[in-house]
Amino acid sequence: MTENKKVKVAVCGASGYTGRELLLRLLRHPGAEVTGLAHGPSSEDCSMPDLFPEFKNLCELPVLGVDALVEKRPDAVFLALPHGAAAPIAKELLAKGLKVIDFSADYRLKDPAVYEKWYKVEHCDRDNLKKAVYGLCEWYREDIKKASLVAVPGCYVTSALIPLIPLLRDKVISPDDIIIDSKSGISGAGKKLTPQVHYCESAESFKAYGMFKHRHTPEIDQELSFAAGSDVSVTFTPHLLPIIRGILSTIYVRLRPGKSKEDLKASWEKAYKNEFFMRLRPEGTSVEIRHIVNTNFCDMSFTASGDRVIITSALDNLVKGASGAALQNFNIMFGFPEQYGLI
Ligand SMILES: NC(=O)c1ccc[n+]([C@@H]2O[C@H](COP(=O)([O-])OP(=O)(O)OC[C@H]3O[C@@H](n4cnc5c(N)ncnc54)[C@H](OP(=O)(O)O)[C@@H]3O)[C@@H](O)[C@H]2O)c1
Repeated sequence: MTENKKVKVAVCGASGYTGRELLLRLLRHPGAEVTGLAHGPSSEDCSMPDLFPEFKNLCELPVLGVDALVEKRPDAVFLALPHGAAAPIAKELLAKGLKVIDFSADYRLKDPAVYEKWYKVEHCDRDNLKKAVYGLCEWYREDIKKASLVAVPGCYVTSALIPLIPLLRDKVISPDDIIIDSKSGISGAGKKLTPQVHYCESAESFKAYGMFKHRHTPEIDQELSFAAGSDVSVTFTPHLLPIIRGILSTIYVRLRPGKSKEDLKASWEKAYKNEFFMRLRPEGTSVEIRHIVNTNFCDMSFTASGDRVIITSALDNLVKGASGAALQNFNIMFGFPEQYGLI
């Protein structure tokens, strides 16, 4: 794909948090032309600045109902929609020959029974589920190049998979008793107001939630099991941080007998030394949310004591955890440099 011939794209869910973030990045992408924007059931037809005033003079496109999108003749559609809402729309778009990049969980879990158990929704598109590619760019790049449908990984999930996949593949750490303790800013819950994310309930406080019940658990287990080549079942505890954006995960693992922290370092370097968006920070330090906010970077570091290792990883839930990863996938699918729109 050359810069002269722009790829036409549409964004479904432009009235939501991750849709907004995506559009900000698409507007600076030299090879993409935004032709359509869609809202959902709680908004009416309007323009982007009506929804988000910061788009005044940047993007004045109308935001219409989902049905109006196809008339805009996009080559690719981003679905920044809740789970359950994305699959029926993806199914229609794929049938029309469009490429789809889905932010939701609808195509992430390979086994529809696992999806239905955790998300309590019947999967309406099992045929496309079989063809969907898991959009963890650093690990599935070759499949993404050929994909028509990409499932963007969950935000917490990405913060866990990035540091752990190489260590399990290289058999540096034990697959047993991995503990992932994650903290997310409140935008991770989207723009819909619920009592849990109400300002008075979340400001100046800090709490864990979803213990043994969070829907990202089966997704983490699925991908870590692929990496380890055996079943992995992690202990994952998310927390709600009283900040707007950013995730920090603290991950507790054990080195396998005979393995050292040098093996861990070598495994990370082998996996990520050529990956622009992966940043290995000095041993013995903690990564920080303020260093990754508004970026597509994932920072990680580790501290070892004997066979015990504490890993920290950080990313922006709205960027590397959603819209940035979606755009990186788009770049791979259409042959653009992966950094387009993202730096
Ligand atoms: N927030 C994050 O940090 C994050 C990170 C990773 C993945 N994700 C995933 O990304 C997706 C979007 O999340 P978000 O945080 O952007 O949510 P959000 O702020 O709540 O936005 C949801 C968007 O979907 C639209 N929508 C809702 N139901 C719809 C339907 N039935 N048909 C068409 N449009 C519909 C909404 O439109 P109206 O408001 O106009 O009705 C809105 O534009 C979710 O699947 C979420 O799990 C989010």
